[in-house]
Amino acid sequence: MTEVIDGKRVAEDVVSKVKALTSELSAKGATKPGLAVVIVGEDPASQVYVASKSRTAKECGFHSLQHTLPADTTEEQLLQIIGDLNADKSIHGILVQLPLPGHIDAGKVIQTIAPEKDVDGFHFINVGKLGTGELETAFVPCTPAGSMLLIERVRGKDLSGLNAVVVGRSNIVGKPMANLLLAANCTVTIAHSRTRDLPALARTADILVAAVGRPEMVKGDWVKPGATVIDVGINRIPAPEKGEGKSRLVGDVAYAEAAKAAGAITPVPGGVGPMTIAMLMANTVASAYLAAG
Ligand code: GUN
Repeated sequence: MTEVIDGKRVAEDVVSKVKALTSELSAKGATKPGLAVVIVGEDPASQVYVASKSRTAKECGFHSLQHTLPADTTEEQLLQIIGDLNADKSIHGILVQLPLPGHIDAGKVIQTIAPEKDVDGFHFINVGKLGTGELETAFVPCTPAGSMLLIERVRGKDLSGLNAVVVGRSNIVGKPMANLLLAANCTVTIAHSRTRDLPALARTADILVAAVGRPEMVKGDWVKPGATVIDVGINRIPAPEKGEGKSRLVGDVAYAEAAKAAGAITPVPGGVGPMTIAMLMANTVASAYLAAG
């Protein structure tokens, strides 16, 4: 029987641990965890994500701050806000929602965030720590960190010697995911748009992670029998069968056919998605603990 990995439930477990840690911090008289989320412009998907991040932060008992800035905000104004948040003792985590409008240099903005408040794990210091295996003190990007937790729930903590194939090489998911799997002693291959014979490569994977942003690209016959399949994609596609103008969410994996071969698989929605926000909360409470000493 294929296990359908319940990301919503695992995310709820993570959030309840975060709540307990937050209470512990306040019992010690320390500052409660503070998360600042900054959004520039009106991208509807980003607005939904940001609202959800702020809501969960409040639910965790955090001090939750949201800066909603107009699309014509200058890079200088944004850098000034980040500078102020870096200096603000009530803030332990700063997240600038991506993508940013084209006139702002996103790389420069990310590198301005203090590494010890970089709960997204995008600053070079945190990327470098992950790449060199300094996992104890690194902030790890939330989506790969959450995916890793789901993989460990299914396969246990010892992933030694397993073949892992990560499809997608983004800085936000593919590369950090590959580094996490490598740190866990998997044999890791990163596949991308230039990879030759991707289906055959995917079939070598005990752990197959799809993070490409292409609806239902990974087919059932790409999946090795018994493999753990982690679908990071969230794609909205037209669903005329539900009525005119309707749409539905699908992952990067053709779920129904892949589920037949897989040992365990994440659904979309309800798989990796809820884990991203939960891990953001986990990173923020960890940051508050470090600040409390
Ligand atoms: N946009 C899409 N995913 C993410 C993420 O994990 N962090 C930020 N800051 N922006 C995103």
